This record gives sequence, C-alpha cells and structure tokens, in this order.
Amino acid sequence: MRSEFSEIIGRDAEVINEMLLNHRLLKKTDGSPAETVIDAEVYALSAGGKRIRPVLAVEFYKLFSCIADPPEYVWEAACALEMVHTFSLIHDDMPEMDDDDLRRGKPSTHIKYGCAAGLLAGDGLAILPFELISDLALAGKMPHKTALTLIKLLSASAGNRGMIAGQMLDLWSEGRGEIDCDFLRKMSERKTGDMLLASCLFGAVMADASPEQEKSAGIYAKNVGLAFQIVDDVLDVTSDEKTLGKPIGSDSGRSKPTFTTLLGVDGALSEAERLSAEAADEIKKYPGSELLREFAMSLASRNK
Ligand code: IPE
Ligand code: IPE
Ligand code: MG
Ligand code: MG
Ligand code: MG
Repeated sequence: MRSEFSEIIGRDAEVINEMLLNHRLLKKTDGSPAETVIDAEVYALSAGGKRIRPVLAVEFYKLFSCIADPPEYVWEAACALEMVHTFSLIHDDMPEMDDDDLRRGKPSTHIKYGCAAGLLAGDGLAILPFELISDLALAGKMPHKTALTLIKLLSASAGNRGMIAGQMLDLWSEGRGEIDCDFLRKMSERKTGDMLLASCLFGAVMADASPEQEKSAGIYAKNVGLAFQIVDDVLDVTSDEKTLGKPIGSDSGRSKPTFTTLLGVDGALSEAERLSAEAADEIKKYPGSELLREFAMSLASRNK
C-alpha cells in the first residue's frame, strides 16, 4: 500500500509541476527587463517542492466528488495554492525574516536574484493566484460562486488573520524564553495550518461537498497542519541540508522557540503522531479515503 500511496502522490505532483511551470500567466512575452520578476518566480517555483498543498486539494476533490480523474480546472486552481505558498517561502527566507540562503535545494530566490527582485517575485506570486482563479470563472470553466469562495478562502488563509498573522507571531517569538506550547500551537495554526486548511477546502468546495464533508476536511486539515509544522521543527534539528534542501539549525540560530525546544524530538514526534491519527480517524468514514489517511500517518516519518 505504501508504494501505491507514494506513487499516486508523485503522479499528482508531476501533473501540478507541468501545469504550474508552464502556466500562461508565467510566460514571458516581450523580453522587457520587467520580466526578470517572472524568471525569479519560475525559479522559486521549480525544483524540490513537495507540492503537498495542491495535492491535498486534488485528493479532497477526488474523495468528495468520486471522480478519479479531475477536470483540468481543478488542477489549475490547485496551482494557485502552490503560488501563494511559494510566495510565503521566498519572503520567509529573506534577511529580515529567517535569513536562509538555501531553499528547495537551491540558493534562495533573494540570493539568486537580489532582495528587491525576490521581494517583488513574492509579491507577484501572492497576487497572480487571484487572477488565475478569476480567469477560470470568466472563461466559463468554473462556476462564479465557486471561484468567489476559493478567492475568499485563499485570501483569508494567507492574509492578516492567517499565514501572515502566524509569520508575525513567529518573528515576535524570537528570543522569548517564556513561550509555551499553547502559543506555539496558535502560531502554527496560523503560519502553516491555515494554508493547509485552504488546500483541503479547495478540493471540498470544487467537489461541491456537503457541510458535513467540509467539516471533516477542516478537522483533518487542522490536525495535519499542526503535525506538519511540528515535524518541520524536528527536521530543523535532525535532518541534513542535502536531504532537506534548506539549512539545518535555522530555528536555533535565531533563538526561535519550537516544538522541539519545548517537547524534545521524541515528545514532538509523538505529538505529531497523535495529531496524524486524529486526522486519519476523522475521514475514515468516507469510502476511498485510504490515500489521505496514509498521507496523514506518514507525516511523522517524513524526512523532507
Ligand atoms: C515549508 O513547507 C514551510 C512550512 C510551512 C513548514 P513545505 O515543507 O511544504 O515546503 P516545500 O513546498 O516542500 O518546499
Ligand atoms: C514558515 O515556517 C512557514 C511559512 C509560512 C513559510 P518556517 O520558517 O519554519 O519554514 P521553513 O522551515 O523555513 O521552511
Ligand atoms: Mg519562518
Ligand atoms: Mg523559515
Ligand atoms: Mg522550519
């Protein structure tokens, strides 16, 4: 089963890569110096990303629509999530934030293109997804109400009460020894969990899921989101740069309180396992949920 699971996820990620990197909104047209920002965006998007956010969107669509081969607009809308996520990574690595020089196995975007172009590439990838989703509706490929719901979800999850709030709390927490698990939990729900919540709900919304199905997707996403960030904190201590594709020890280098500093590696991993089990449990009532359950259960043992 495990190999079947990783094969399907791998195939999903390939489709996403193909669509994302060849998207018409990322095509250069006139060779103007302005288009350097597109080079930087494509650079940041290519190579090394696991694509879990679009994969979750597509897999939740499959689960609730019972359609094994989603239409193209579903894949395309899923790409919007990867764009916003990549924007968050570009900015996260900049000197004013985590100051990390390596991302997805390559020099970070601001190292390759300079801070100004890096900043603008992040801005571009934050905005482009809204054009992409609007275009899907205007071209008649997606019902207008679905598109508006996705736009609302994505802007709320990434914005002032979502990922950006979490990133602010993360920066604020640096060097504060008094931070406890409750704070870390709330911070992680915002900085990481909300984008994973948007991802699962993207699939549910496009599949026209029932309120009960949406609720299950939300509970799954919250547990997976927290488990995902806990393991990210652990890998910052236990992994190596080559496997992870980003620097090791970044968190301790900036005196960030993390789940590893508070719970220890073993304590953090068992908390991640507990959350993963809750996520899997929530969706087991849905036929065809094996892959998403396996995905949740695999988080604690991921190595990148
Ligand atoms: C890293 O996300 C940042 C977090 C939210 C923890 P991923 O681990 O999904 O990074 P990529 O997309 O695979 O590079
Ligand atoms: C970042 O968390 C979450 C984002 C919103 C990008 P981290 O700072 O821990 O992510 P990595 O470890 O640099 O990927
Ligand atoms: Mg960070
Ligand atoms: Mg970081
Ligand atoms: Mg990290």
